[in-house]
Amino acid sequence: MPHAISGFSKLSKSEKIQWLLDTYFSDKEAARTLVKQYWNTDEKLQKLHDEFIENTITNFYLPLGVAPNFKINDKLFTIPMAIEESSVVAAASKAAKFWLDRGGFKAKVISTEKIGQVHFTYSGDFDELHSFFESVKPRLFSATSDITKNMERRGGGILDIELRNKSQDLGDYYQLHVTFETLDAMGANFINSCLEAFAKTFKDKAKHTLDGDLEVVMSILSNYVPNCLVKAEVSCPISELKSKDISNPELFAKKFKQAVNIAEVEPYRAVTHNKGIMNGIDAVVLATGNDFRAVEAGVHAYASRHGKYSSLTHCSIEDGLFKFWIEIPLVLGTVGGLTSLHPLVKFSLEMLEKPSAKDLMQIVAVAGLAQNFAAVKSLTTTGIQEGHMKMHLMNILNQFEATPKEKTALIEHFKTNVVTHSAVVEAIEKLRKTS
Ligand code: MEV
Repeated sequence: MPHAISGFSKLSKSEKIQWLLDTYFSDKEAARTLVKQYWNTDEKLQKLHDEFIENTITNFYLPLGVAPNFKINDKLFTIPMAIEESSVVAAASKAAKFWLDRGGFKAKVISTEKIGQVHFTYSGDFDELHSFFESVKPRLFSATSDITKNMERRGGGILDIELRNKSQDLGDYYQLHVTFETLDAMGANFINSCLEAFAKTFKDKAKHTLDGDLEVVMSILSNYVPNCLVKAEVSCPISELKSKDISNPELFAKKFKQAVNIAEVEPYRAVTHNKGIMNGIDAVVLATGNDFRAVEAGVHAYASRHGKYSSLTHCSIEDGLFKFWIEIPLVLGTVGGLTSLHPLVKFSLEMLEKPSAKDLMQIVAVAGLAQNFAAVKSLTTTGIQEGHMKMHLMNILNQFEATPKEKTALIEHFKTNVVTHSAVVEAIEKLRKTS
């Protein structure tokens, strides 16, 4: 059994690697070579990556792909996507091309409010707490003036501070519920710094003013942001849906809408439906250096806001018009965080023509909608496996260490044959036996 280690973070990078090799690996040299193989040869660049987190031993690559031909509000974009799943970028590109000829995507930001809370307990009378809060509220704003001045100069800052009584849900529990505008910054550090300053002032003043005991439990932003919303949509007359793989547009529109309606009422389907949406969203969020865990948590909470997990996209067919849209909360930044540090994030943002946070919200929502369109289109027509396995073919070939010559032959073979794992294995074996 491996032994516990203290002071690991203080070891040098090579000492850390040596400890891992000694503790876990039988073929130490192979493991060392692998770790080193993924180091960047540019030492400065490697150091930058080393310093993003603690205990970095090497880099973990994901492919960065691009999906061109996205027309959003009449402007063309090539969208960067960092993702490992083989069919995602191909599906996004296909959906972009499909809608390029049908008016493109329309997107708009509905609201941009962010939220943070100071959670505290109070043992006294609520009316007394309420009048104390009203009297101390201006001091809360002034306690953060140093933190907020730059943000305010740019037009953002603290929007409001509310006292919320949660004691019905949990004994003695209250909140300062604070709303913020953080413009192009994701704002996590700004919000958390403001909250901690509120908490300190609030507690200090309470000590001298209130009879009841007031204890701050914690101060933290919320990743649930139902008022930081973006909407994206596509629409066209049903007849215009006709294409290479849609021969009967009326039937296609009807089945497509049914599939979306199923995801609206059936949580088992909604989770997978929304997972497909997140394939697109997370890939762009990651490529642009944003926090995909925050986005995931907020989006899924929003999908459950009516008490039952449901679809993030919706579809209507009215007067011969097919309409498909998404509405989601997204907190994104295009300044601060990794945006100016990670070279590939800078590259991605430049490719998107240096978007504002609002622009990026629209682009990300469109990527989610496009991904969902591609998935539901496949599911309700050919089935998902045809396209999915075609894209997965290369992974299977690589698993079997197929040579370039074998790859060419087998890709050709599977242009006209159904790809399944066993069919590929059989074809490789047959090819190797004959050559
Ligand atoms: C696979 O990553 C995503 C899908 O399952 C999404 C869906 O079912 O809508 C294809």
